[in-house]
Formats: sequence, C-alpha cells, structure tokens
Amino acid sequence: MRVLIFYFLIFSFIDAKYLDSKSCAECHQDIYNEHIKSMHHHSSIHKDSFHEAVKNKTTPDKYDCAFCHSPASPNLLALKNGEERPNNRNSEEIDGVSCFYCHQINKVFESKHQNINFYGYQGGKPTFFANLSEPDFSDKHANQSNEIFQNSRVCMGCHSHKYNSSLVEICNTKSALDETISDCLSCHMPKTAGSPVNVNKKGRSEYATHGFLGIRDEGMVKKAVELKLAQLKDGFRLEIKNKMGHPVILQPMRLKYVEIEVIRNGKIVWKNFDKSPLEDKESTFTITFKNSDNVEVLPPQAKDFLFKNNLSRNKTKVIEYKVQLEPKDKIKATWKSMISRPQLAEELGLSNEYRKIYEGISETLIIK
Ligand code: HEC
Ligand code: HEC
Ligand code: HEC
Ligand code: HEC
Ligand code: HEC
Repeated sequence: MRVLIFYFLIFSFIDAKYLDSKSCAECHQDIYNEHIKSMHHHSSIHKDSFHEAVKNKTTPDKYDCAFCHSPASPNLLALKNGEERPNNRNSEEIDGVSCFYCHQINKVFESKHQNINFYGYQGGKPTFFANLSEPDFSDKHANQSNEIFQNSRVCMGCHSHKYNSSLVEICNTKSALDETISDCLSCHMPKTAGSPVNVNKKGRSEYATHGFLGIRDEGMVKKAVELKLAQLKDGFRLEIKNKMGHPVILQPMRLKYVEIEVIRNGKIVWKNFDKSPLEDKESTFTITFKNSDNVEVLPPQAKDFLFKNNLSRNKTKVIEYKVQLEPKDKIKATWKSMISRPQLAEELGLSNEYRKIYEGISETLIIK
C-alpha cells in the first residue's frame, strides 16, 4: 500500500509539472497556431504514420526514436528498453517536439551516435530560454536568454547527426567538409510582423515564426537548389547548386531529383528517365542501405550503404548528357522532391499525404 501511494505521488507530480503546448496559446496564440501545423507537433508515433510504420517494421519492441520524436516523455529510458510502450493518452508524448521541451533545452552535448539535449527543469515555475530583449514579466514562467537560441545550437540535439548501432551514418546536417553549423534560424524561423504575445506590453513589431517549413512546403522546395543548363556540341550540361545550409539529403528516405525533358514541336522526344527517377543515378539524390548479405534494409538494420548520392551545402554538381539535339528544341529541367521514395511508400502502405510530388524551380534552354 505504501509503495502504491509513493508511485501515485511521483506520477501525479510528473503530470502536474508538464505544461502542454495548448496551454501556451492563452498568451502566445499566433506562435501556437503556427506550431500545431508544423512537423514538430506531428513528430510522435501517434501523429506521423510514416514514422510509425518504419518504427514498427524495424524496432517493434522498443521505442528509442522517442529521444527526438517524443522528447518530452517522462519515461524515455523505459521506452528505449521496451519496458514500456508508447501511450496515446500521454500528452507529453502526443505533443511531440513541444514548446515546453524545446524552450527548456539549456545545453547540447556532442556525442558519437547522436547528440544529447540537456534540459534544466528543477520543479517550481519553469524557466524558458530564448532571445527576447528585456522580456516582460509572466506569471506562468521565468524568461532567460541563452546563446544556443542565437547560434542555432539548440537545433543540434536532434538534427546534428545519427549513427546506428553498427556505426553507419544515417543522417548528417553538417557537411563532411564544413563542420561549422549554418544559421538554421534565419531560413527556418524567419521574422514576421506581429507580436510574440497576445497582450503586447513591450510594443514589439515582429516575432520569429514557428512553422519550421521544409520539404512539405513548395515555397521552401523552390529555394532548395539553383539549376543551370548549357548547350554542348553533342548534348547539354546541367548544373545543380545546393543553396540550403545543409546537404540535399538529411532524412535518407527522401527522394529529390531533376526531371529533364527535351521537347520538339510540342512533343517530348527524350527524358532522363522512363519510369523511376532512380534510372538517372547522377541527378537523383537519396540514400539506401544494405545488410551484410547485400540485401536492402531500413536504416536501423544497416551495415553499409547500398546507394548514396548527396550534395553538400554550397556545392555544385555538373552532369553532361549526350543527346542528339536539333535547333529550336526546348530543354526543360525541374527540381522535384518526395517525402518517401515511392517504392518504400508502397511497401509501408503510406497514405497519399506521403506520396505527393513537391515541385521546385524549373529552368529551360532553347537550342540554337
Ligand atoms: C537523433 C534524433 C532522431 C532519432 C533518434 C530518430 N529520428 Fe527520425 N527524424 C529525426 C529528424 C531531425 C527528422 C527530420 C529530418 C528531415 O526532415 O530531414 C526525422 C524524420 C524521420 C522520418 C520522416 C518522417 C516524415 O513524415 O517526414 C522518419 C520516417 C523517421 N524519422 C523515423 C525514425 C525512426 C523509425 C526512429 C527510431 C528507430 C527515428 N526516426 C529516430 C531525428 C531522429
Ligand atoms: C499567462 C501568459 C503566458 C503563458 C500562459 C505563457 N507565456 Fe510565455 N511569455 C509570456 C510573456 C508576457 C512573455 C514576455 C513577452 C515579451 O516580452 O514581449 C513571454 C515570453 C516567452 C518566451 C520568450 C523568452 C525570452 O527570454 O526570450 C518564451 C520562449 C515563452 N514565453 C514560452 C512559453 C511557453 C513554451 C509557454 C507554454 C508552456 C508559455 N510561454 C506560456 C506570457 C505567457
Ligand atoms: C527535440 C528534438 C528536436 C529539436 C530540438 C529540433 N527539431 Fe526539428 N525536427 C525534429 C523531428 C523529430 C522532426 C521530424 C518530425 C517528423 O517528420 O516526424 C523535425 C522536423 C523539422 C523540420 C521539418 C521537416 C519536414 O518534414 O518538413 C524542420 C525544418 C526542422 N525540424 C528544423 C529545426 C530547427 C531549425 C530547429 C532548431 C530551432 C529544430 N528543428 C529543433 C526534432 C527536433
Ligand atoms: C540558406 C537557408 C537554409 C539554412 C541556413 C538551413 N536550411 Fe534547412 N532547408 C532549407 C530549405 C530551402 C529547405 C527545403 C527544401 C528541402 O527540404 O529540400 C530545407 C529543409 C530542411 C529540412 C527538411 C529536409 C527534408 O528532406 O525533409 C530540415 C530538417 C532542415 N532544413 C533543418 C535545418 C537545420 C537543422 C539547419 C541548421 C543547421 C538548417 N536547416 C539550415 C534552407 C536552409
Ligand atoms: C524546435 C524548437 C522550438 C519549438 C518546438 C518552439 N520554439 Fe519557440 N523559439 C525557438 C527558438 C530557437 C526561438 C528563438 C528564435 C529567434 O530568436 O530567432 C524561439 C522563440 C520563441 C519566442 C520569442 C519570440 C521571438 O521573436 O523571439 C516565444 C514567445 C516562443 N518561442 C514561444 C513558443 C511557443 C508558445 C511554442 C509552442 C506553441 C514554441 N515556442 C515552440 C524554438 C522553438
């Protein structure tokens, strides 16, 4: 009986201290509206069926993905070891990368397999870290500025890199050649007119947006690369320049590619692939893995790469195509992105939401 009461006290204490994302809306309505549409709010196994399908297929009995996908869960270690299962009634889990969690990270430790977030909650009124100059008083939390919210280090606890248990690199936001991190906030949290709080006592005129747009936003996909075409004696040349602050491929299951068509008298007379973009290995970016029997596997089981085509930040790739061209032929190159490779989406039974093609910029050239 005494043991039961003891547990009851601990659990009610944990539940009482977590402030769910919804509770922030009372004073931060605009930021809340942006946040609930973002993938940070949809990162948990309860809201992202792609994540859920990969987890069920690769690690059905444990959930170590929680460290980044449901980081506010109070039982991270038990989830990791498989002693406890994800619970869809637990608001810390359902909230995914929540407001409360992100704003309490006060340090990010570098580590080999993946970095670790340090989180300073001691009980009582929480302290939230960010960058506002002279923040106004709030009775719900204390405010404190922290330099990791200026130099983008706060993102690196989850986005820096990940190696699986066989030390195969699954993702890396830093480029191999350039170890310094880029300014994530300037591209992913652009400032907008408005106020960070509903009652704007400090008279602020702008705030940092919280939509964290990425591959699911065509406006962002249009900013990913620059394409250039040039005529050659026996064909044409394509240049792909990565304009993002990181490699083209972060999450390895993505498919990003250039579709090229040669149009003559209104008809397509040549394409760089027939059915699948993977037929053109040069202009298609993705990463696949294999086990020790050379069979394709998902990242957690990987022993080595099967196929890897990536492009570091600020790097340009030049590809030459030998094609018989005629004067007035039109060459059209278009950047396209998919959340999952189509074959993988098929195998995992993903819904249409995960099978869309997001269109980036196009470049055309008329042959002289
Ligand atoms: C070190 C942190 C970290 C861990 C651990 C982690 N992930 Fe992720 N995961 C991320 C980040 C960051 C993204 C977003 C990357 C991007 O969009 O390029 C992501 C995205 C994904 C996506 C794409 C989801 C979508 O809808 O776009 C899938 C699927 C996924 N992770 C599966 C898993 C699985 C399964 C596990 C556990 C076996 C796992 N992840 C563990 C950080 C992590
Ligand atoms: C009762 C109102 C209220 C609630 C509820 C509230 N806040 Fe705030 N918050 C404020 C006020 C007031 C400020 C200061 C705004 C200013 O100076 O313009 C603030 C500022 C902040 C800042 C900026 C801190 C800094 O130093 O730059 C963050 C981050 C923040 N709140 C996060 C949250 C989160 C996360 C939640 C939900 C768990 C939340 N707030 C709930 C009133 C509130
Ligand atoms: C606690 C871990 C964590 C932190 C800290 C974090 N992220 Fe994320 N982020 C994730 C996960 C996990 C996903 C993928 C969610 C999914 O797709 O299921 C994600 C998704 C994203 C996406 C959207 C990808 C898409 O699919 O469109 C962007 C952009 C992003 N994060 C940028 C950032 C930036 C910039 C920061 C720093 C301010 C940051 N994140 C901090 C874990 C984190
Ligand atoms: C110069 C602008 C720029 C900077 C700096 C930048 N990004 Fe991005 N990022 C983009 C654009 C544009 C996209 C959307 C296109 C795409 O996903 O291919 C994107 C996509 C992403 C995605 C989703 C990728 C996917 O395949 O789902 C994540 C996650 C992300 N960025 C995280 C970060 C982090 C973390 C940092 C800081 C280390 C950062 N970004 C710095 C421009 C930038
Ligand atoms: C992925 C991490 C992350 C999540 C999730 C997140 N924030 Fe933030 N937030 C930041 C960062 C980083 C900044 C600093 C941006 C800057 O200074 O450019 C910030 C800034 C703020 C500010 C100060 C406004 C400003 O212009 O600097 C407030 C208030 C705030 N966040 C509230 C919230 C609330 C409320 C939620 C949930 C509804 C939330 N945040 C979710 C990372 C996050």
